[in-house]
Amino acid sequence: MTTTIPAARPLTTRLKDDNWKLHQIAERAEGPAALIKGRMPLDGYVAHLAQQRLMSRALDAALRPHLAARPDLAAFVLPEQMLTPYIEADLNHFGVRPDDASPEPGTTRSINEIAAHAGDALFLLGLHYVRLGACNGNRFVARSVRKSLGLPETGEGTRYLDPFGDAQRDKWYAFKAALDALPLTEDEADRVFAGTEAAYLHAICHGLDRHQTKDELLARHEASLDKQAFEQGHSVHVPAGTH
Ligand code: HEM
Repeated sequence: MTTTIPAARPLTTRLKDDNWKLHQIAERAEGPAALIKGRMPLDGYVAHLAQQRLMSRALDAALRPHLAARPDLAAFVLPEQMLTPYIEADLNHFGVRPDDASPEPGTTRSINEIAAHAGDALFLLGLHYVRLGACNGNRFVARSVRKSLGLPETGEGTRYLDPFGDAQRDKWYAFKAALDALPLTEDEADRVFAGTEAAYLHAICHGLDRHQTKDELLARHEASLDKQAFEQGHSVHVPAGTH
């Protein structure tokens, strides 16, 4: 008798499906929600960029030696995905000197997480997956921010939210296909997943006094989560069929 072994789920399917609850909590968190609803004032937006720069710079720097040593990763984790230069261009647009910002507690916690996993290329890849994947939703966030703050349609000031413009979707699918093609052991795949989970937790808890575990967050939010809304369009501000 032959038994059929179900085909393994592609890693990126797992990263998306098993993180949907955290994604929905993240998109409802104070910062992202204020951005997409057009309720973030300019000074808050600029301060947000400055904090993102500190975290992004730490991740770019942590990834760099791994990419130099691993052509299999460098083949799809590309220099254009290092997000710090886009943030610096945005800060420059507002005449803000990037070095002036000091880290908020949530920023320090994220940077410490990166440092704690500096030797683990696959955990860092999970962190990177989330900041890059977030550009899918941030394209919609960028539209709201441009409208509410009167920023140019040509993208100055919102490059970080929307670095790839119309190429976003194709670039994201290429990145995901390459990640799915990596021959990873179960343990290695788990480390990528752990990185994605950590990235969501840090994004959610960024403005909170203390970091929280997934269990704590689910205990508080689970009852209000909506899988159908997630599958149809994520936030109410992202119409179905446009993502
Ligand atoms: C207002 C806030 C947000 C909205 C409206 C939003 C919306 C979206 C949309 C429409 C997609 C595309 C889904 C698809 O192609 O199937 C997406 C993907 C994604 N978003 Fe968000 N998002 C938001 C906030 C965030 C935040 C704060 C994070 C992370 C911290 C994040 C991480 C991701 C990731 C990793 C993906 C790729 C999903 C995957 O395929 O694994 N998003 N988001």
